[in-house]
Amino acid sequence: MTGSVITGTGSHLPERKVSNDELAADLARQGIETSNEWIVARTGIRQRFLAEKGTTTSTLATAAARAALQDAGLQPQDIDLIIVATSTPDYVFPSTACVVQANLEAPGGAAFDVQAVCSGFVYALTTADALIQAGRAQRALVIGAEVFSRILDWSDRSTCVLFGDGAGAVVLERSDRPGILAANLHADGSQLPILCAAGNVAYGNVVGDPFLRMDGQAVFKLAVNVLTRSAQEASEAAGIPLEDIHWMVPHQANVRILNALARRLGVPTERVVITVDQHANTSAASVPLALDAARRDGRLQAGQNVLMQGVGGGFTWGSVLVRL
Ligand code: ACO
Repeated sequence: MTGSVITGTGSHLPERKVSNDELAADLARQGIETSNEWIVARTGIRQRFLAEKGTTTSTLATAAARAALQDAGLQPQDIDLIIVATSTPDYVFPSTACVVQANLEAPGGAAFDVQAVCSGFVYALTTADALIQAGRAQRALVIGAEVFSRILDWSDRSTCVLFGDGAGAVVLERSDRPGILAANLHADGSQLPILCAAGNVAYGNVVGDPFLRMDGQAVFKLAVNVLTRSAQEASEAAGIPLEDIHWMVPHQANVRILNALARRLGVPTERVVITVDQHANTSAASVPLALDAARRDGRLQAGQNVLMQGVGGGFTWGSVLVRL
């Protein structure tokens, strides 16, 4: 049966690394109190990377895409589909995917963005797989990229310490060998109030509130519940029991969410890839960043079953179970 396989991964982080202590010192100068101890205890985050002025989502996405292409041994011209998952696009339009395509100098194929906040990469990967299976594309670049630092209210300590910037990418190719084994996507739009950036641009002005707002405890509970159900759904759909999944690569928001998820599923935490300590929450970039980190350090190996999971604003959630 024709399906799609991941043949390359790549990622890119901004140069500026900011530890919790540095961030706490910066915030203290504005009269905002936080500490490394609070951030580590509540979230597991130790540092984040923040994009310099002038670095945009497409800058990070293009670098991650080039790394994934190199890993797959392909040229930009080999790609006929680019999907960028982001909630922090360069422009109102065109899509960031079109900007990336221009940067790669590979015109002609389809290019569009997917907006599903922290579930964006899982949504984008599932969409690319469906297009490949339908014969509408052969080789796709699927990218998650964000500059979330631009939509944070830096006077709100309950959110600004949680996020970072970055990008991750995969090359997905048509193949007769099993790759993507199961996928599910879900949303509940009625949950908008617990996580949103409810502003827009109209008549030349920002209308509404352009900053991220979150009810942290409500998000925490919902995230653990929906990720648990979605993992079980993917495992049943593929006929692969959870104990035969070698690695889980869930959205990286909070170590406590990841530990609670592993406990609920009965999966040892040693089989959960954790990068939130290094990258903080990079929204749509978090899953491909974690995937690339674990592939490059040798944890993820060819032939293994890997469960990627997204959850975020919308509310949206979903899983992709893939054999590497
Ligand atoms: N530094 C120090 N104190 C802080 C900070 C901070 N940065 N932020 C909040 N506090 C204080 C609060 O003011 C509160 O003080 P009070 O008791 O005097 O009122 C106290 O810490 C506890 O606040 P809570 O909100 O109850 O803390 P909680 O244990 O719930 O942790 C957190 C907050 C980390 C946001 C948690 O709810 C969480 O992780 N939620 C999940 C949300 C998430 O990860 N979202 C990411 C985006 S969504 C996604 O990616 C799926």
